[in-house]
This record gives sequence, structure tokens and C-alpha cells, in this order.
Amino acid sequence: MSDRYAIIGNPVAHSKSPWIHAAFARATAQDLDYARIEAPLDAFAATVERFRAAGGKGLNVTLPFKQEAFALCSTVSERARVAQAVNTLVLESGFGDNTDGIGLVRDLSQNLNCAFRSVLLLGGGGAAQGVVGALLDAGAARVVIANRTVSKAQALAARFPGASASGYEELSGEFDLVINATSAGLAGELPPLPAGILRSGVLAYDMVYGRETPFLAAARRAGARTCDGLGMLVEQAAESFFIWRGVRPQTRPLLEKLRGA
Ligand code: ATR
Repeated sequence: MSDRYAIIGNPVAHSKSPWIHAAFARATAQDLDYARIEAPLDAFAATVERFRAAGGKGLNVTLPFKQEAFALCSTVSERARVAQAVNTLVLESGFGDNTDGIGLVRDLSQNLNCAFRSVLLLGGGGAAQGVVGALLDAGAARVVIANRTVSKAQALAARFPGASASGYEELSGEFDLVINATSAGLAGELPPLPAGILRSGVLAYDMVYGRETPFLAAARRAGARTCDGLGMLVEQAAESFFIWRGVRPQTRPLLEKLRGA
């Protein structure tokens, strides 16, 4: 029988991860099966245990369970510890890792050829939390975290030398990369950015993929370069695949295929 993996979340029906991992498996001649599991909101741990007991080898974890997955692990990587969230579980050993930050950084540096020194990160929830450490490790000289609830940005920034917090209104200065890690776009809303932050010469990156968010539309109107989170999705998947299988799949051909579709 093929080794079994899955993405676990709620909701999970629209996840592209099964398709991505199946493509990686074909390209690297790995014998595996990758499914979708929608866990009840109050039964994440039990659902993971059932999959493990049935022989499941590994899970990718998505919203809203990444913090719960972190709490479930017997050991975690340094980057998962820093993010306090796990998106990759190795079920035999109880090991947890977080590949979101490295996925974003690889997309920025390898796929988008984007050098970043000064980063504005919008949002103070789980999505933002998962990438601050990786951005600083990858050479960002400063990361300003802006959030509607400023206290959340402050609590997050306090954990990272090199990061600082701000409300939206008092934002100023020049950034070369602006990342939308809020869930505003899912409600058709735009984080209240002051005029002048999005401009020509900026890369505006939305972690959401597959839809034109108000953030991306505003950035385009302001003359900024724009990108959605599809590349981050593919890169974090490739890193998870490597953790499980010890083989690093190529991401460029798959990303081109997904973008072309
Ligand atoms: P996730 O894990 O996806 O980050 P979350 O923890 O619920 O989800 O966080 C959602 C983020 O989007 C938060 O930073 C939230 O701001 P608050 O902390 O102030 O709630 C942000 N957000 C959601 N809707 C927003 C909107 N319309 N404008 C600005 N920020 C918004």
C-alpha cells in the first residue's frame, strides 16, 4: 500500500495541497497517497490520532489548527517553536515543523527575484506569526508589523529583535515589500493603509491565493508589483515533502502549470 498523507483543516475542501503533492510524487517517483481530511472544530487531536492509528505517515495542518498541532507534538523544529505553530506533522515520531515562513521566503527570493530590506507585514494573527522569523532570518533589516488591534502586533513584535509594531494610521516610511497576512480579503475588505505605502517600486504580496483581493487591486492601482500566495503554497508544500520523503521536488514547473491554468 502507498504511504498515506493528508491535509487536515476546517474547511479544507478547496485545498490545492492534494494536487500539489500528487504532482511532486509523480515527478520524484515516490509512492504515496495524499488526501483531504476535514476535522471537526472540537476534535482535531482525535482526528489526527485516528489517521495515525490507521497507518497515516504525515499531515499538513491548515486553518484553524496550526496552534493545536504545535501543542500536540512531542518535539518541534526551532522554526516551529518560534512560530508557535505547526503545519507539518511526522506521525511516527510526533515531530512537528513549520514550513510556511521558508515557503514565503523561497517564493520571494527564488521565484519572484525580490530582494527585501524593509518589510511591512499586515496582520497579527496566525498567518503573520508564522513568517516574521523567516523574513528576519532571510535578511530583512526591519519588519514593521501593522495590525488593527495594535496590542497583538506589539505582542508579536516583542518576540523578535528587528521587528516593531504599529497601528495603520501612524504608518510611514518606505517599504520595499508589503505583505498582506490579514484575513480582510476573504471578507472583501482592505486593511486601512495610508496613501503612499503602496507605490511603484513596492512588491505587494497577498498570502491568500487564487483570488483578486482588494489589497492586490489597490496595490495595482498604485503602480506596485503584485503577487498572490500561490508560490508560497507550493514552496511550503515542497519543504513538507522534503521533510517526509527526503527528496526535494522542483517547484518551478508546477507553479508555471498552476499559474497557466
Ligand atoms: P490568521 O490565522 O489567518 O492570521 P486570525 O488569527 O483570525 O487569522 O487573524 C486575522 C488577521 O486579519 C488579524 O490580524 C485581524 O486583525 P485584528 O487582530 O485586529 O482582528 C486581521 N483582519 C481581519 N479583518 C480585517 C480587516 N477588515 N481590516 C484589517 N485587518 C483585518
